[in-house]
Amino acid sequence: MSQQFPSSIPPPADIADAVARLYPDPDLRPRIVYFPSVTSTNDLAARLADRGEPELTAVVSEQQTAGRGRLGRSWFSPPGAGLYVSVILRPGSAVLQTGSGPTTPMVTLAAGVAFAEAVRLCTHLPVTIKWPNDLMVEQRKLAGILTETSGGGRPDYLVVGFGLNVRSAAYPADIADRATSVEAELGRPVDRGPLLVQLLASLASWIDALRAGRREAILDRWRSLSPSARGAEVEWAGPEGPVRGTTDGVDRDGALLVRIAERVERIIAGEVTWL
Ligand code: BTN
Repeated sequence: MSQQFPSSIPPPADIADAVARLYPDPDLRPRIVYFPSVTSTNDLAARLADRGEPELTAVVSEQQTAGRGRLGRSWFSPPGAGLYVSVILRPGSAVLQTGSGPTTPMVTLAAGVAFAEAVRLCTHLPVTIKWPNDLMVEQRKLAGILTETSGGGRPDYLVVGFGLNVRSAAYPADIADRATSVEAELGRPVDRGPLLVQLLASLASWIDALRAGRREAILDRWRSLSPSARGAEVEWAGPEGPVRGTTDGVDRDGALLVRIAERVERIIAGEVTWL
């Protein structure tokens, strides 16, 4: 039996007003499908993509009951505290594939640049990116990105999920001293509507850059937003125990390069601790 599809509702006034203000022409407005509550916006976006929803459709929910983070973690998503957004991308085979295989990591890097720039533009906070794609203010995490594909060797679509802490909330103990929010950093209330609109516009623009083959521009911008990707001491779990090294940038596939004495290791996924 197919799972019941939750009902979307019109976006609340703060979001609808920001969209209307920034896109006076209704034909040019981003498509936002809004839900009061979902398990995970990434799930809903994938189901909508399966039903043929177009690229750049954004699923936004007031809360998530099973928000997902990287590495099988959950993403704390209480009502009213954050922006929980998933965007459908259909980048096409030219972008998703290269001679060396799928380049989903490039999409993820482009999304990191897009979201970091959008949050910087709207808030003027000194947001940086911590590999692979955490948005940070100094040592605290402001936002995370989870890119998922439709599976198979040639994915038909990708879902880029973005969680931004807008308002402070009673974070679970294990993240309380590592998380921050836009309002906590700015010390004042923040309108989330313009933030959402800017996030979507910035993503569209950087995905266009990817489609236009501007990979070096994306990598350059990512590197400039991620000072900790070069020259920082890190540790991760190797097959024979913890390994330490010094970050040495990212390669064209989005892998973190880490120098250990004379050799350079490529880290594709997994947990890396900055020391
Ligand atoms: C991470 O840093 O671990 C990634 C977090 C990604 C969270 C967002 S919130 C919207 C979207 N839906 C999810 O279930 N996860 C992403």
